[in-house]
Amino acid sequence: MLRCLAPLLILALPAAPVLAADSKARSDYILRCAGCHGMTGEGTVEGGVPAFPDSVSAIANLDAGRTYMMHVPGVTGASLDNAQIAQVMNYVLEEWGDGSSTPFTEAEVIRRRAVPVADVVDERRSVADTLAAEGIYIAEYPWP
Ligand code: HEC
Repeated sequence: MLRCLAPLLILALPAAPVLAADSKARSDYILRCAGCHGMTGEGTVEGGVPAFPDSVSAIANLDAGRTYMMHVPGVTGASLDNAQIAQVMNYVLEEWGDGSSTPFTEAEVIRRRAVPVADVVDERRSVADTLAAEGIYIAEYPWP
């Protein structure tokens, strides 16, 4: 009898708020990001969508990289508010980062979105060049 009830008791526990935020971030990722980046975060080289694994943490560990991440079109055009952007970006870092990156807060998202970035392709190249000078190579990026 007890053995039958145990799973029910676990299900009846209220979800911790952090878990609720995580599952919201996951559904935002599925709805607004996965169409291009895929459920594995691999993107597509042909489609010009860079892979997250072995790459996104290096970008997030660079000051200019964090600003760049707040200006990619998939994020700026996603009609997510600043807190939701922080959460979905942290979801990306948790799923495909190496654990070395500081999570985004809503305040940081607001601050970095206010920094003007004229051309996201140039910005990405500049971030890649800075990292390459340190011997860190990020995902392929075919845009001219
Ligand atoms: C329409 C396709 C598309 C959608 C949807 C999209 N992205 Fe992207 N994403 C791209 C492309 C293409 C790039 C490369 C930068 C560029 O050229 O704009 C990129 C770059 C990124 C990068 C930087 C990675 C790198 O290596 O440069 C991050 C982080 C990112 N996207 C997160 C997201 C998140 C989070 C969402 C959902 C809220 C999202 N993207 C939705 C196409 C998309």
